[in-house]
Amino acid sequence: PIEQRIKDLLSKMTLEEKVGQLNQVNGGIMTGPAAEGDPGAKAKLDMSRKGMVGSFLNVTGAKETRAVQEIAVKESRLGIPLLFAFDVIHGYKTIFPIPLAETCSWDLALMEKSASMAAAEASAAGLHWTFAPMVDIARDPRWGRVMEGAGEDTYLGSKASYARVKGFQGDLTDVYHVMACMKHFAAYGLAEGGREYNTVDLSRYALHDIYLPPFKAGVDAGAATVMNSFNIVDGIPASGNKYLVTDVLKNQWKFKGFVVSDWASFGEMITHGYAADGKDAALKAFNAGSDMDMESRVVIENMVQLVKEGKVTQARLDDAVSRILYYKFKLGLFEDPYKFSDERRESVTLLNDKFVQAAREASQRSMILLKNDNNTLPLSKTTKNIAVIGQLADSQADALDFWIAKGDPKDVVTILQGIKNKVPQSNVSFAKGYTITADGSNALYNSTETTIADAVNTAKSADVVITVVGLSGKVAGEARALTNIEIPTEQMKVLQAVKATGKPVIVVISTGRPMVIPWLSQHVPAILYAWMPCTQGGNAAADILFGDYNPSAKTTMSFPYTTGQIPVYYNQKSTGRPYQDEPNSPGNFWVSRYRDAPNGPLYPFGYGLSYTTFDYSAPTLNKAELNRGENLIVKVIIKNTGKYDGEEIAQLYIRDMVASLVRPIKELRGFQKIMLKAGESKEVTFTLTNSDLSFYDGEGKLHLEPGTFKVFIGGNSRDVKEASFSLK
Ligand code: IFM
Repeated sequence: PIEQRIKDLLSKMTLEEKVGQLNQVNGGIMTGPAAEGDPGAKAKLDMSRKGMVGSFLNVTGAKETRAVQEIAVKESRLGIPLLFAFDVIHGYKTIFPIPLAETCSWDLALMEKSASMAAAEASAAGLHWTFAPMVDIARDPRWGRVMEGAGEDTYLGSKASYARVKGFQGDLTDVYHVMACMKHFAAYGLAEGGREYNTVDLSRYALHDIYLPPFKAGVDAGAATVMNSFNIVDGIPASGNKYLVTDVLKNQWKFKGFVVSDWASFGEMITHGYAADGKDAALKAFNAGSDMDMESRVVIENMVQLVKEGKVTQARLDDAVSRILYYKFKLGLFEDPYKFSDERRESVTLLNDKFVQAAREASQRSMILLKNDNNTLPLSKTTKNIAVIGQLADSQADALDFWIAKGDPKDVVTILQGIKNKVPQSNVSFAKGYTITADGSNALYNSTETTIADAVNTAKSADVVITVVGLSGKVAGEARALTNIEIPTEQMKVLQAVKATGKPVIVVISTGRPMVIPWLSQHVPAILYAWMPCTQGGNAAADILFGDYNPSAKTTMSFPYTTGQIPVYYNQKSTGRPYQDEPNSPGNFWVSRYRDAPNGPLYPFGYGLSYTTFDYSAPTLNKAELNRGENLIVKVIIKNTGKYDGEEIAQLYIRDMVASLVRPIKELRGFQKIMLKAGESKEVTFTLTNSDLSFYDGEGKLHLEPGTFKVFIGGNSRDVKEASFSLK
């Protein structure tokens, strides 16, 4: 058994070699001509020769990983193989939709499949481990990392977390999967003001009830690793937070994997003002239960001393090393350290047609039709003259975000190209309207009288105008926080000028986050939210625009009316003075509301249109009174009342009316994606279990409390029909 093999190996390891296993180093290219004469690369390999590295991150490719592995295995005293890790967030070479977009499909099988395809590519390139999925609940679209997660809802986020961990990992016994890493533990999505690396302050109740369940779901799915977050929780940096890492993750949840820091997050405890120096940081991180140090080097520099001084126990050291070694054995690296580094497999796997086709389907299922007045869409394929406006339609580089692993802009099918592919017989003309220039990690947009005039002329000679606006992928991802998430002014000038031609203007939005788009929602007839197009988004957008795919995606983050409303999310708690949405009622003054904007979002959680329409009956319940231990059966009839066959995502929400802790006014507790032919009706059945009616308190204990519950069913979180029952 692995446990015995770990014991045997531990008995042969020196203290220094054990500490080496806890060290993760940023590798990059360290062998071959490109690394010749690079003292940094040589120093890292020398550390590996001395057994001072347990894992490298950012070493990729079958050839390079094999070369680096060979040094560790053949030239270090015990020949312990390395783990190669990389951020494979939504694909390695074939770049799937951003994870947030993909959750808008509400299709768990799709999420599992895309993760498993990303793993197949990554593992063929020698990798053992991805730093994904990000499972942070996120309610602030100013945060650049909302793109990596599953949105604002804990229930959906937990299901996505489970599916993605399974997809990346399989059972970790073949060469086609990689270890997953759930991040960032914990509550990182709550960074104040959406500003990256910022402070988090939250109650234990919110921690357990909102932010931790997706991590718990991933632990249940067998996640091998968890990453500390950069933020503080209860005043203690997450990396050194014993309550989080040991009490909850390792003890309460019985997590058997290992915990890796975020980049330098052990060392950053000094900057937080929580650790005095590197030695103190290593001590605090390690005794809190964190196991591997990514790039702070505080563990490799201080742990031997800390153990010798008795400040870190031998047992704690052995525990951390054993957790890491377990996965090296589990992956079979002691039998064959090069089993993932297979150049032949790599060459036939990356960008394989099967993956590219799957990426196209995933993109179709992720794009949201936000508006479609008078059935403006789909467009006829016989449309003669089509104008496409906006540099974002034609820029491969801006169609990819920051987290693209080895994705290559030249493999991206842009929206312009997708349209040309779709309607080769049409006359598709293009004007950039505005230009995009990179400014460090930011993007600047510019339009001039000439570019606008060109766009207007192009529009005038067309039957229909497709204008692409939004944000470059350069501002989607880590360290890409924004205070302004409106469509950039220079783009709006172009759009408004084009609209003034009187031509029908369809807007496609290319971006990595929900944006503030009230003007668009009022003034253009059709809006397709395409997210970051990535490898196949251009083809997918064209599939939707021209009716080859009937859109079915629904938002997993609310779209605010104004930035000042943020955070806006559907599952708020009731205040003592709720606003009743009747602006002129006299009783509606001293209530919780904005004077200059609505309380609710522009597009609520769960919202998205189809080319067809659906009608819901009122829900019926099998019981008005439920005993503990019994399930509630909820039924609803859904009818496709339009002219197209289409898929609908039926959503079930509950409200626990009176509880020992105030509960949200609505919480998602079920969803089903069903296909209905035009005119067809189907009865859809939901089963609500006791656990669906329960909630976590501030200690992580589940409560199931008697009393009245409401059940809501509908096609989004706002437009629902309700029923109620009581739990005895
Ligand atoms: O995995 C990431 C993490 O999400 C943010 N900081 C850097 C890590 C490694 O690249």
